Amino acid sequence: MDMESWKLLRSVCVLSFLLGSCFVYQSLRVVDAQEDPKPAVTLQVDASNGGGRPIPETLFGIFFEEINHAGAGGLWAELVSNRGFEAGGQNTPSNIWPWSIVGDHSSIYVATDRSSCFERNKIALRMDVLCDSKGCPSGGVGVYNPGYWGMNIEEGKKYKVALYVRSTGDIDLSVSLTSSNGSRTLASEKIIASASDVSKWIKKEVLLEAKATDPSARLQLTTTKKGSIWIDQVSAMPVDTHKGHGFRNDLFQMMADIKPRFIRFPGGCFVEGEWLSNAFRWKETVGPWEERPGHFGDVWKYWTDDGLGHFEFFQMAEDIGAAPIWVFNNGISHNDEVETASIMPFVQEALDGIEFARGDANSTWGSVRAKMGRQEPFELKYVAIGNEDCGKTYYRGNYIVFYDAIKKAYPDIKIISNCDGSSQPLDHPADYYDYHIYTSASNLFSMYHQFDRTSRKGPKAFVSEYAVTGKDAGTGSLLASLAEAAFLIGLEKNSDIVEMASYAPLFVNTNDRRWNPDAIVFNSSHLYGTPSYWVQRFFAESSGATLLTSTLKGNSTSLVASAISWKNNGKDYIRIKAVNFGANSVNMQVLVTGLDPNVMRVSGSKKTVLTSTNVMDENSFSQPEKVVPHESLLELAEEDMTVVLPPHSFSSFDLLKESAKIRMPISDSSSHQKTTTV
Ligand code: AHR
Repeated sequence: MDMESWKLLRSVCVLSFLLGSCFVYQSLRVVDAQEDPKPAVTLQVDASNGGGRPIPETLFGIFFEEINHAGAGGLWAELVSNRGFEAGGQNTPSNIWPWSIVGDHSSIYVATDRSSCFERNKIALRMDVLCDSKGCPSGGVGVYNPGYWGMNIEEGKKYKVALYVRSTGDIDLSVSLTSSNGSRTLASEKIIASASDVSKWIKKEVLLEAKATDPSARLQLTTTKKGSIWIDQVSAMPVDTHKGHGFRNDLFQMMADIKPRFIRFPGGCFVEGEWLSNAFRWKETVGPWEERPGHFGDVWKYWTDDGLGHFEFFQMAEDIGAAPIWVFNNGISHNDEVETASIMPFVQEALDGIEFARGDANSTWGSVRAKMGRQEPFELKYVAIGNEDCGKTYYRGNYIVFYDAIKKAYPDIKIISNCDGSSQPLDHPADYYDYHIYTSASNLFSMYHQFDRTSRKGPKAFVSEYAVTGKDAGTGSLLASLAEAAFLIGLEKNSDIVEMASYAPLFVNTNDRRWNPDAIVFNSSHLYGTPSYWVQRFFAESSGATLLTSTLKGNSTSLVASAISWKNNGKDYIRIKAVNFGANSVNMQVLVTGLDPNVMRVSGSKKTVLTSTNVMDENSFSQPEKVVPHESLLELAEEDMTVVLPPHSFSSFDLLKESAKIRMPISDSSSHQKTTTV
């Protein structure tokens, strides 16, 4: 090409570019006529090699507490509630709720007694059938269990029902899944056995395949044979659970999509109890499910059969790929305490609980795990001594005894104190201190700076519970989620001192809301994420990424932004995240420096925006996607671009960095980069 032709081509290119830019600019003006295209603020991002700081691998995780039926009637897929009739305790008459009778009192009489074959849960149900094949109603009489506000039975799926039974005569028992009033049978099988077979307790199992779908089904055990039958430990599990490990698939997936790097469990207040006698004690939750006594969690006020026990929590952590963080009771509940002089049994219990998880299969408690089918140890590197009881009379004394004993036996285990070390140094040793915050939206938004001035010496911070609560939050508003997004950006920026963070609570079954708001809302068959859930998804790539130095310039009191870079499948990305907490749209110029323009190019990128027409908007079963992130291509991604941040929104801009494709210079003297608005 000669010089004249080159100049002509160059002029055509420049003209086309100017016309193109003009067209894009005009189009955007049409879409959003009120926009002032002049950027009000600039986010300067230094993406030069070595310019950033690594974000801890563990930064964002989840906190699973048995609250709101998160586990029993939630993630744990067991369909029967109160399967051993123990909900009223170990004495008779116990509480058989939600079991009830099929038939009337002239044909069936039920009572609890203490004749079970299981030592730790002696209660069984005795059914006296007063009618026979001529006198009983055609479907028979017996008992039914509606599960946790209805069992979700799905056509074509299989359900394994197991129960223990005993009788003085032959038995002919129908095990059925039916509609909520029993009028429609979805699946049914018989258990027939001779008197000699069932003269002692015997386990029977049937596999039911559903002919139809019903989200509010029940399990029925009925007969037309006169006589007395005892039943105990009745379980109905879907065959299809996550990895066959007993977790409800849809809820598990929702949780996994957060890509949590750790999982704190099993509480919270659930670990403490109102009274120590009702606290979660791990030894009561391991071994065969039939032998677990279950317990009444007196803080959240419901019975759990403890099918989701100490073993299953570690399994859950492993299945989700998150580091387990076990919180154990430190001899302190909301209302009573064990004094330090008598704390050793609790300390031994904690040591045994660690050995259960990570001891070899020949160790005392590792062998219990091995008998449950798991030879190799689980990973356990973090434990928390108690929950929210710093300042109680025996907290410090007890803590030191736990700390010394655990560090002596397991020097590599990191220990979490629940005293806040962010404002003053702890008066006891710890690897982490636990920090909880529930507050209004404006407070949490301004707490973006919370850890800016925290001492960098001493233990790291674990923000294990945070959320906007109260009227700003409702049952999960956009407003709450935006404040949380700003707070999380603050944590990301302070991740040299804050190493872990999790929202609370994670789950709520809407039939028994004990706490508002929550991240994942469900009933027997449906679920949705609150805006707070979706905010957490924006941070899934942050753990282990690089925090880029970024500075927001201009009038930005209602804006918070950050930038990270990370790799995925061998590709390099930069993610800019920005919260616009204000009621006006803002144009933000993003200026990424430190990328070699001759080697790197930003392309194939996307933007994701979480917003809604009203800042108090929430999702619901009828509108589960009213406030969810919307993704679109970021076609005009450049090192210098202007992005529009809608009012009350959280946006991310993912820039894919690709290897160089030679750029066409737009003018001989142009060293400046183009500016585009997206
Ligand atoms: O997340 C709900 C409760 O809030 C937790 O159980 C407790 O730790 C906190 O008070």
